[in-house]
Amino acid sequence: MTTSSAPGKIILFGEHAVVYGRPALAVPVTQVHADVEVLDSARAGIWIQAPDVNLHAELNTLPSDHPIASVIHNFFFLSRVSPFPNLDIRISSTIPVASGLGSGAAVSVALLRALSSHLEKQMTDKEVNAFVYEIEKLHHGTPSGIDNTVVTYAQPVYFVKGLPIEIFRVGRPFTILIGDTGIPAPTRESVGDVQRFWLKDKARWESLFDNIAEISFTARRVIEEGWVKMLGELMDENHALLQQMTVSSPELDTLVEAARSAGALGAKMSGGGRGGNMIALVEPETAEAVSASLKEAGATNTIITRVA
Ligand code: PMV
Repeated sequence: MTTSSAPGKIILFGEHAVVYGRPALAVPVTQVHADVEVLDSARAGIWIQAPDVNLHAELNTLPSDHPIASVIHNFFFLSRVSPFPNLDIRISSTIPVASGLGSGAAVSVALLRALSSHLEKQMTDKEVNAFVYEIEKLHHGTPSGIDNTVVTYAQPVYFVKGLPIEIFRVGRPFTILIGDTGIPAPTRESVGDVQRFWLKDKARWESLFDNIAEISFTARRVIEEGWVKMLGELMDENHALLQQMTVSSPELDTLVEAARSAGALGAKMSGGGRGGNMIALVEPETAEAVSASLKEAGATNTIITRVA
């Protein structure tokens, strides 16, 4: 049996602008993860069990563009695995779906790594990252590639589309509280809306993206230097820009406000927006109290994560 695990991720700064070549910062969230087991099987076929998404099926009965089937088919094709071996594949994940925590990328990374090591076709991180980016494109349209990068390397990443990855240093550890609106929000839709707005008024939107780029650039410096309090202000500024870009939502704004009122140093939505998750910068001592306030304000779940 071969097993593999991949973490969730959260974007700290720069979502949406990152699709237009601006930098973004994201970190792994190890409290949630996707786990895959691959076993040789006595029965014919490749049997996939993913109880979290109610999937129990043989590979050939799935449409070829199914997210899990497409990883397996593409891996076998690229690695020239033929004939197909008989396998049992078990997939489980604690990462909420469509909420900005990178669940799709984590399942793809864990599945690919479990398959490649089980079949002794070793892949480098760079190869895994490039492969999963292609899978993300099949399902999300025009992703920047930040999800697959952070999940593959499981490190804090300063990401600029098309450039080699840069791992950033954390000068002083800080605590992030993640609050889930409970509203699933397909990233494809908010990314599509931003693209339509941008096409109508490129000058205005390029300048919004530039403002966000400035924030991401400064945030990296601030994190590396360990000036944690300034990070909160940068989150507030980034959130205001995302509101102007219409990708926040009343529910996200409510949680952001609740976090600030409960003593967070700053807060913003995270990821595609319109639903999904928000993040708040908190002191470790107040994390539980701010988390309780978020739940009172409607958060369906919270995660406290330390970035170190
Ligand atoms: O919703 P998430 O966390 O998968 O992130 C989307 C981030 C965007 O910048 C909106 C899109 C992208 O591909 O980077």
